[in-house]
Order: sequence, then C-alpha cells, then structure tokens
Amino acid sequence: MILIDNIGVLATLTDDGEISDAAMLIDGEFIAWCGKKTALPSQVVTKTIDAKGCLVIPGLIDCHTHLLFAGSRPDEFLQRMDNQSYEAIMAKGGGIANTVNATALASDEALLSLAKGRLNAMLAMGVTTVEAKSGYGLSFEQELRGLRLLKHLDAGCDIDIHRTFLGAHVVPKGFKDARDSYIDLVMDMLAQIKAESLATDCDVFCEQGAFSVEEAKKILKAACDMGFSLRAHVQQLSLSGGISLLREVPLRSISHADFLHPEDITLIAQSGVVTEALPIAALFVRSTSVTPVPQLRALGAQVAIATDFNPGTAMCHDLVLAARLGVVYFGFSVGDALAAITKTAASSLGYSDRGILKPGKLSDVVITNCSSVAEFFYDWTKHPVAQVMKRGKLIR
Ligand code: NIG
Ligand code: FE
Repeated sequence: MILIDNIGVLATLTDDGEISDAAMLIDGEFIAWCGKKTALPSQVVTKTIDAKGCLVIPGLIDCHTHLLFAGSRPDEFLQRMDNQSYEAIMAKGGGIANTVNATALASDEALLSLAKGRLNAMLAMGVTTVEAKSGYGLSFEQELRGLRLLKHLDAGCDIDIHRTFLGAHVVPKGFKDARDSYIDLVMDMLAQIKAESLATDCDVFCEQGAFSVEEAKKILKAACDMGFSLRAHVQQLSLSGGISLLREVPLRSISHADFLHPEDITLIAQSGVVTEALPIAALFVRSTSVTPVPQLRALGAQVAIATDFNPGTAMCHDLVLAARLGVVYFGFSVGDALAAITKTAASSLGYSDRGILKPGKLSDVVITNCSSVAEFFYDWTKHPVAQVMKRGKLIR
C-alpha cells in the first residue's frame, strides 16, 4: 500500500468535509482508507508520499473541452476586442468554420501532438479526467476521425478522456440550404459512433447561427434512443430558448446558460441537470450576462465549472484559473468552486467512482502547494499543484 502522509487538510468532498492532520492509504487504483492520522490503521506500507502539511484534494475534472483542433484564430480575437460580436464573425463565415478547415488540413500526427501537449499542461494543473468533444470535423469522415484520434489518445495517456460527439456544432458550408440533410447525416454519424464505441455522449450547440431548439431536440432524441448521454450548449449568447430542451429530453448537463430568464433558473433546479458554468468563455466574449450561480445554488441546482477550452471563445485550458474566476466573477463560494471542478464535474459526466476522496473510489488525488481551500482560490501567485496521482500512480 501507498501512504500519503502529513496531509494538513484533506478536502474529502464527502459528508466528512475537511479533515485536518490526515493521511490516506492507496491500494492499487483505489483509496483504501483516509482519515485522521491518529486513526491510521496499521498496514504494510511500500511507499510513503509526503504531502508536506498541505491541502489534498480529489483529481480535477474538466467536464467541458473542445480538446482536438488545429490552428488558431487571433485575427477574430482582435475583431472581437474591436467590438464585433461572435455571432457576426460566425455569420460572415468565420468562427468554427475556420477551425474546421485548419483541422481537416492537419495530419493525424499533428493533431495528436497538439492534443498531447494540451493534456500534459492540464495534468500539470491537476486534471486527471477530461471531457473532449468532437465538432471541428462536420463531415462523416472528419467527425469520426476526430473521435478515433481521441480514443487513441485515451488509450495512450494517463488522463481519462471522456468522449462526446458534437457533430451538431454548426451546419457546415455545403449544407447551408440543406440543413435537414446535415441533420440526417448527424444521425448516420451517431449510428457509426455507437457501432465503434467512439463516444458515450452527444452534445449540440443550440444558438442563433448554430442549431435551433427544434433541430437540437431532433438530434438529441435520436441520440437518446441510441443510448447516448445528452449534453447541450444553451443560451450562451442570447435568450435563444435552448433551456426548453430540459422539458423535451433527459439532458445530463447543459453548458454556458449565461442568459437566463428567472423561470429558466427554476426549471434548471427542478430538472436535476448539471449546469456547466464556463467563466473563461464568458470573459472571452465579453458577455454582458453570466450564469447566475448564486441564484441557481440557492434553489439547489448543481453547477460545475469547466474551461470550455476551444480556439474561439476560450483559448485557455487552465481549469484552476476557471475555478478561481468562478469565485471572483461568477459568485461561487470557495467550497462550491472546489466541488465544481471535482464532485459536481464528475456528476456532469455521470461518474460515481471519482471526484471525492473516500475508500473504494479511484485514487485520483492532487497534493497541492496550498495550506487551505481559501488559499487555493486566493493566491494567484502560486502554482497550486505539487503532485498528481492518477489511479494510484504518481504521474507528476
Ligand atoms: O463552447 N459554443 C460553441 N462552441 C464553443 C465555441 C467554438 C468555437 O468558437 O470554435 C463554445 O464556446
Ligand atoms: Fe463549448
């Protein structure tokens, strides 16, 4: 067994809360025991890891990324900083379509190498599970290529990659006057993805300029019938009505929800869906409205935080920064923000084996450089992560 000793504060994210002067025992991939050091059971310990009196938290989970793409869009960034809207740039044929072109031109090796570099940087920030969407393919071949590459990456790296199909990101160029044909094609892709076990989840970008509520409903219903878990990007840029999907299909998560009517907040809380708040994206598009986290939390809604890493609205894969922004910008309490990148992010992806520290759960653990949860969120001068354990193996 491995002993993690000298833990100043163990944030369990369970009913046990924070335990001071704690220790943990790791057996293979799983947590065997955790609690007060004084209650440590006697065991044969083969290796001891010193937490140096610091805070120890579950491995972080980034539950919303667009990990796999080539190219970048700094010119559009400048246009946006010059007050052109994301929608206007998309309407002119820019935005997602630019990244679709760059991704199609990139070789498999180039895409894999870009993604590996990003995963390594995420790991350095304590991320041990990452959700990754397709969506920069937008053709049968390219969407499947993207998911096959993600599956290949998952098999070869320490971080777990949770794969989501986002063929319904935008309607690609060739289908502008044949939207229904593209939606039919998305259905064909879903069937093949299922046959090859390339993704467990299906997401849709429901927004003006992307997919309407009716179109999103059609795609998500089909995906549901095929056994996919459902997610949707809704009301990121406007009150475009995507929240009403909650009445139509069993969504596991919705993302963004920056623009909400008061009744939307009630509907979200009643539905039990996880809302993924994406502060980096809200900042990047200079959103005039952001996910009303305190109101959602007051009604008992579960709110996760993710990076939304993508070349258009969030060219940043720093989940700790996203969580720190969650506190100062979106109004999360520090406790809720920590849960939002661990336990609640796990719920968003449907995992019950991670995101909390408890015997029997996966031993995905971050030993921080901080003395408390408050310091983790407050001290932006500090790289917060000292060591990272994934499934019982120290990987950093
Ligand atoms: O989550 N909203 C849709 N998708 C991304 C943006 C993708 C892009 O601009 O490349 C998002 O913000
Ligand atoms: Fe997104």
